[in-house]
Amino acid sequence: MPGDKSISHRYALLAALAEGPSKLTGFAPGADCQSTLACLTGVGVEIADETPGTITLLGRGLRRLRSPTAPLDAGNSGTTMRLMAGMLAGYPFSTTIVGDGSLSRRPMRRVIAPLQEMGASIEAKDGHAPLTIRGTRLHGISHVSETPSAQVKSAVLLAGLHAEGVTRVTEPAVTRDHTERALAAFGGCVEVEPRVVSVIGGQTLNAQSLAVPGDFSSAAFWLVAAAMVPGSRIEVDNVGLNPTRTALLDVLRRFGARVTVSVTGDEAGEPRGTVRVEFEATSSIDIAPSEVPGLIDELPVIAALGACGAEVTIRGAAELRVKESDRIATLVAGFRALGLNADELPDGLIVSGSRGGSERRPRGGEPDAAGDHRMAMAFAVAGLVAEGPSTITGADSVGISYPGFFETLNRLVS
Ligand code: S3P
Repeated sequence: MPGDKSISHRYALLAALAEGPSKLTGFAPGADCQSTLACLTGVGVEIADETPGTITLLGRGLRRLRSPTAPLDAGNSGTTMRLMAGMLAGYPFSTTIVGDGSLSRRPMRRVIAPLQEMGASIEAKDGHAPLTIRGTRLHGISHVSETPSAQVKSAVLLAGLHAEGVTRVTEPAVTRDHTERALAAFGGCVEVEPRVVSVIGGQTLNAQSLAVPGDFSSAAFWLVAAAMVPGSRIEVDNVGLNPTRTALLDVLRRFGARVTVSVTGDEAGEPRGTVRVEFEATSSIDIAPSEVPGLIDELPVIAALGACGAEVTIRGAAELRVKESDRIATLVAGFRALGLNADELPDGLIVSGSRGGSERRPRGGEPDAAGDHRMAMAFAVAGLVAEGPSTITGADSVGISYPGFFETLNRLVS
């Protein structure tokens, strides 16, 4: 698998704040993490690209990033924009962070409000990018987040590292905890209780050599494909197995697949190992609202399980409407184009059987990924069980998180 995108962003940001050179291997190859590296270069961090997947960042140390001479470009990456905003809110200079069309439509108030409460001044266009951050001396706050979002939590914690006193974030549900684990790995002091995380400002982080595990959310496309295509068996090695990311495994077992997991190591607090999924049986799947935060990036490919004739219902996932595209609308339109019955709910969707093809298999068709990487890959997986060929518009968006996705798909089906 390509390196984990969420972990790569965090290791790069913390390496920039650490003292001395950090070496990161297995760094995510997609465009999103390259956006983070470009933004870090913009604030004075020296980054050497050694071999593919290995980078060395020369950390500047806390409070020693430099004023950028041009706007920082977060591209398509929500994690880059939100975490950089948090990291730069405590510097005595102004930074403008821009994004592409999709990122400029995504909600930023969720990070602007707590950062303003800490003392920063942030200008946005009606709650959207571009963001202009006028950093200042920050003070710690106790932030109760309304949205379960690891990006919001991480933005506030990164600001908290630069603030006076303690910064505490309380989340409404558990979200991925890579920032907490990475902070500890860089020698930081972070206090973690269930749904509450605190950091103290002004601490020193130490440079590290770290190996990023494979991205579970990228592996998810193959795991679902194996569960759905009769006769399939897939094994994925060296994939991240952080329990805040792996809820899909339980969904696949409920669906009827044979799933085995072996943890082979733990580095920097991030467990990793091998996952095997084998086709066995198929049944309908109901995703409850309480499961959504742990499955947020896997919901599109879970919906694709409906392509084999099972009914898939997802509720409590309105957050999907503010991802790289409105994922509820994009999925329903794309599944219909493939010949599936699919309907939007205000906070989710229902996919149920095919129309036009044979009773269980869709006929195939021409879905539009709307420039959204996870839509393109979800449609490719659904297309595997279609009777005819499918052509995905906007398929090159896979480069955001998984360059080489279609090459791997070709190897797996031949
Ligand atoms: C991410 C958090 C999630 C996830 C995104 C990556 C992260 O977003 O959907 O792909 O790396 O923190 P939210 O924090 O908006 O839920």
